[in-house]
Amino acid sequence: MAEKSTSEERTVIIVGAGFAGVAAFTQLSTSLDTDTKLILISPRPYLIHLPAAHRLVITPDEPNLADNVLIPLPSRLNQGNRKTVQAKVVSITDKGATRFVTLDNGETIKYTVLILAPGSKWESPFDFPDTKEGTLEKLRELHARFEKSNDIVLVGGGAVSIELSGEIKDEWPTKNLTLVHSRDLLLNDAYPEHWRSNVAEGLKKRGINLVLGERVDDVEPKDGKISTRSGKVIPADLVIGTRGPRPNTDFISSSLGANVVIDSGHVKVKPTLQLPSHPHIFAIGDIIDWDEQKSARKGVNQARSVVCPNVVAFLKDPTTNNLTTYSSMFEKLTLTNGRNGGTMYIGKLWGLTFGDWVTSRKASKNLYMPGIRGQLRLNP
Ligand SMILES: Cc1cc2nc3c(=O)[nH]c(=O)nc-3n(C[C@H](O)[C@H](O)[C@H](O)COP(=O)(O)OP(=O)(O)OC[C@H]3O[C@@H](n4cnc5c(N)ncnc54)[C@H](O)[C@@H]3O)c2cc1C
Ligand SMILES: *[C@@H]1O[C@H](CO)[C@@H](O)[C@H](O)[C@H]1NC(C)=O
Ligand SMILES: *[C@@H]1O[C@H](CO)[C@@H](O)[C@H](O)[C@H]1NC(C)=O
Repeated sequence: MAEKSTSEERTVIIVGAGFAGVAAFTQLSTSLDTDTKLILISPRPYLIHLPAAHRLVITPDEPNLADNVLIPLPSRLNQGNRKTVQAKVVSITDKGATRFVTLDNGETIKYTVLILAPGSKWESPFDFPDTKEGTLEKLRELHARFEKSNDIVLVGGGAVSIELSGEIKDEWPTKNLTLVHSRDLLLNDAYPEHWRSNVAEGLKKRGINLVLGERVDDVEPKDGKISTRSGKVIPADLVIGTRGPRPNTDFISSSLGANVVIDSGHVKVKPTLQLPSHPHIFAIGDIIDWDEQKSARKGVNQARSVVCPNVVAFLKDPTTNNLTTYSSMFEKLTLTNGRNGGTMYIGKLWGLTFGDWVTSRKASKNLYMPGIRGQLRLNP
């Protein structure tokens, strides 16, 4: 039988300082006993507040915006046995009692419990570099390309594409903007058809062209145009692909075996959010295989109401069956349409929807920036 570790030897590692990882870290900082080490590993010294990232992409030089989207992890988080490490995890070694992660700088760190929260890989321009300067430089270059372009095409008709189109119209009202989506309605079947039609109307009202039910395989424009699979030609000086993210899990499947993920790359989890074959490894956020739309709100909830209490209980007694289980939250989607418009769907009861006034009051103007530090406990 394995010896019980004393609390001084225990280490909990969290991989990824996004919404889920930071929520887990700030909560465990207080709920774990002070002898247990808690380490948050992420390649940047800040959390990216993605729900405001589409505005940063379009107006990178707006005063204060970058500081509110790239939110520094305060030095206060490094106290006693709580620590943040700026690096990327490249592999996990988990064989019997030998458990450690290897970082891109060659260092290794041992763990007792591992929490995986590496989030999603997004297409450019949402594939931000690991420094603030690098990010702003990239976005300024993109801004200059927008300036020079007249026909702009977004490929993809999900939330990111829809919100980005509204920001582009705010900044360049007269450019010819087209959004191409493979389905006959925007978004996907998780949302009711009447609302998906309303979203389309909101974009059309602003002069955004919609090309629905068409696929684009090659997003590189040639001779000022791109073609859809069915042969439709669309004028295009600049094309942005926003066809949905992939989970950032290559280092997990290459370390723990291809069978820990499903074909899409999402990590299989039990309702306790433990990996089925590794009870001391938990997963949260965009990477988990769970039948719901991914969102920051859900990642935070998984961290706080399921994984944090389960990690505390598991460390007390690794054989416990008394763990909390996750059940899906109701669907809710807020779509901004620039700074003054938008719409919101709440999948409760018969499905509530709200139009421009409520959405712009609640979301479009400030993209949750005033409250997010407090909610994630990232105030300096
Ligand atoms: C433009 C845009 C707008 C959005 N708007 C909303 C919205 O309004 N509401 C909403 O709820 N959701 C929104 N989302 C979705 C939301 O941002 C994600 O669901 C959420 O960020 C997922 O949280 P996460 O913690 O799983 O991953 P992330 O927030 O992506 O964080 C993952 C972290 O892990 C790090 N990481 C990755 N690999 C490694 C590694 N190998 N080692 C160490 N660290 C690693 C990453 O660098 C990153 O810091 C939006 C997304 C985008 C792109
Ligand atoms: C704008 O783009 C659409 C394709 O979505 C195209 O049909 C139209 O001709 C373009 N308009 C102008 C003025 O170039
Ligand atoms: C199970 O866990 C809950 C809260 O985590 C606790 O209140 C309860 O006493 C536990 N039950 C047993 C049998 O340990």
